[in-house]
Amino acid sequence: MIKKVNFKIKKNYLEKIKKFKKYNESYYNKSFPIIDDSDYDSLKNEILELEKKYSFLTSNQSPSISVGYKPSKNFNKVKHRIPMLSLNNAFDRDDLINFEKKIFNFLSLKKSNNIEYSAEPKIDGVSASLYYQNGKFIQGLSRGDGVEGEDITENLSTIKDIPKILKGKNLPDEIDIRGEVFIKNSEFKNLSEKFANPRNAASGSLRQKDPKKTKEIPLNFIAYTYGFSKNLNISNQFEFLKNLKDWGFKVNKLNKILKGVDNLIKNHSQLEEIRKEIDFDIDGIVYKVNDFSLQKRLGFVANAPRWAIAHKFSANNSISEILKIEIQVGRTGALTPVAKIKPVNIGGVLVSNATLHNEDEISRKDIRINDTVTVERAGDVIPHVISVDLKKRDKNSKKFIFPKVCPSCGSMTIKDYNTVTKKFDAVRRCINDGYGCEKIAIEKIKHFVSKEAFNIDGLGKKIVENFWELKLIRYPQDIFNLDYKKISNLDGWGNLSVANLKYSIEQKKRITLSKFIYSLGIRHIGQENAKLLSKYLKNPINFFNLREIENFNDILNIDGIGDTQIKSIEKFFKNKKNLTVLEELRKCLIISSEKEDLKNGVLKDKIFLFTGKLQGISRAEAKSLVEKNSGKIASNVSRKLNFLIIGDKPTKRKVSEAKSLNIKIISQLEFLKMLNIKDF
Ligand code: IVH
Repeated sequence: MIKKVNFKIKKNYLEKIKKFKKYNESYYNKSFPIIDDSDYDSLKNEILELEKKYSFLTSNQSPSISVGYKPSKNFNKVKHRIPMLSLNNAFDRDDLINFEKKIFNFLSLKKSNNIEYSAEPKIDGVSASLYYQNGKFIQGLSRGDGVEGEDITENLSTIKDIPKILKGKNLPDEIDIRGEVFIKNSEFKNLSEKFANPRNAASGSLRQKDPKKTKEIPLNFIAYTYGFSKNLNISNQFEFLKNLKDWGFKVNKLNKILKGVDNLIKNHSQLEEIRKEIDFDIDGIVYKVNDFSLQKRLGFVANAPRWAIAHKFSANNSISEILKIEIQVGRTGALTPVAKIKPVNIGGVLVSNATLHNEDEISRKDIRINDTVTVERAGDVIPHVISVDLKKRDKNSKKFIFPKVCPSCGSMTIKDYNTVTKKFDAVRRCINDGYGCEKIAIEKIKHFVSKEAFNIDGLGKKIVENFWELKLIRYPQDIFNLDYKKISNLDGWGNLSVANLKYSIEQKKRITLSKFIYSLGIRHIGQENAKLLSKYLKNPINFFNLREIENFNDILNIDGIGDTQIKSIEKFFKNKKNLTVLEELRKCLIISSEKEDLKNGVLKDKIFLFTGKLQGISRAEAKSLVEKNSGKIASNVSRKLNFLIIGDKPTKRKVSEAKSLNIKIISQLEFLKMLNIKDF
């Protein structure tokens, strides 16, 4: 009986191998693919899955052996078990003070406390995540969009710094080791004709389809953090770095433990000075709170941790001349002046545009066309003009007059009045939003397909512009009803690329409510607010029903969503064009309700409100504790509230309102008891 089953499995396997061989031959020997990339990848996976399941299946044509073949045009996408996040940037002392202040506030620490940081040079390469099981290297992923990476195991395996088997003690059962893949500057010299900089060379080499080619380029790996882990017995970052070394990884020799902003700055200047002597590019220093238990308490905001920051090295400056000033119209209608400058090389990058930020900035610095200016470029931030050389100014030069109408649609522009600061906004905006203004509409669509929103592969900014010109798209819903026949006749498009585009669009028809809300590009509703809204609204129907709402203040009683956001949401739903877009999108998408973080935490379905000062724990941390345990936070006392938690000097009105509604009033201690936390 078993034999018969095995025979069937083997037959099925060999049929797949035969097909695989045929596709490879037509691709490599005849340069004529007879199958879509995605189907090719699925077949390859099916074979690998079968081999994993049944050890008796082997073939020298298997994709696990025949590395000489290009395994696939697109690598397999794999979800990171713990997302690979990015870091917020700091540029100066104030940013660092602010970073530390936020940590102190969140942890409710006294000024006399001192936080220990692991200060690590930030290598400018490409990050990778290496999964080890019982000390054995199993799978390696690229960062991808942070949520999903590409399976580049074969290529990573060629890097000598990546141990295939870990040695030493204290090994966890499972761990994703994360670090940077990079090329040494001395070795980049031989590659400089092919790539603009070492970072591009590392990225290009790592994503080579043929691992043999990857092996030819000397890649290095330095480890610095981890993602998922099981049975990891380490309590701080520095100890972790020490363990990494014992396990066989290279770690940065310049890593340090430091305390206090002054020391961070001292170390920053020292490193900046010796930067040129180091044989690989570093673009700053990463500071991480050393203690893992504090890291855990601090958690994340949007897609960056609260417990770490990248202190960038100072910018490079160059002198250039302003050729003209263009006014760009952004997604929210903001008119942004951009200086077209005589191209200059700033720190290895040719710069020909510099932002002038807004109307006020131009008048403050009195920036004019033909002025000689100093332009600054810091890391990946857009270059900007820092000063004007007045001595070089032409006698006949005239003040720049900022347009008062939108350069795209001719509508009126306004500066919003901020009721909190009692000042007018520095930014002038076109009032014709909601797809009435061409430039705003294009930018809205670019945002809609961008990485953090619908993330449609193969539909980048340039293609959106091109499709707009060809009248293929006017509104977001048009993306899901594209005329593929017309596209396949366009220059630069072939059957395969059209099929790929169609595939990636089809795939993205399923989306979570928070991503959907974010992708609409409602002003003041970024990723975090979109998450808050979708958690509160629970399902897409409630979101669509907002069109019927009269008083938004009553309905959106969400902690973290303030007046500005509510007004903006209201404005969005009062616009008829937006409502049509929503209706059309609703027809072609499958929008899923939000998954709760921790569905069955101990505070499930309970709504809390804090009033008064808490002891030893900040309001922000208390709120995040509620959310981590599936509870919710309200911003006002209402019938829906379950607990009012009172600290020192609570707001009397809140307490009496809660009493009259028979809402349970508890102390901080009682609240912490609910979570089994004894003290702070
Ligand atoms: S820690 C959540 N440590 O910087 C913490 N990152 O913008 C994530 N990088 O994509 C990263 N050196 O490629 C960390 N010592 C270091 C690093 C480092 C370089 C890169 C990494 C990441 C980016 C964050």
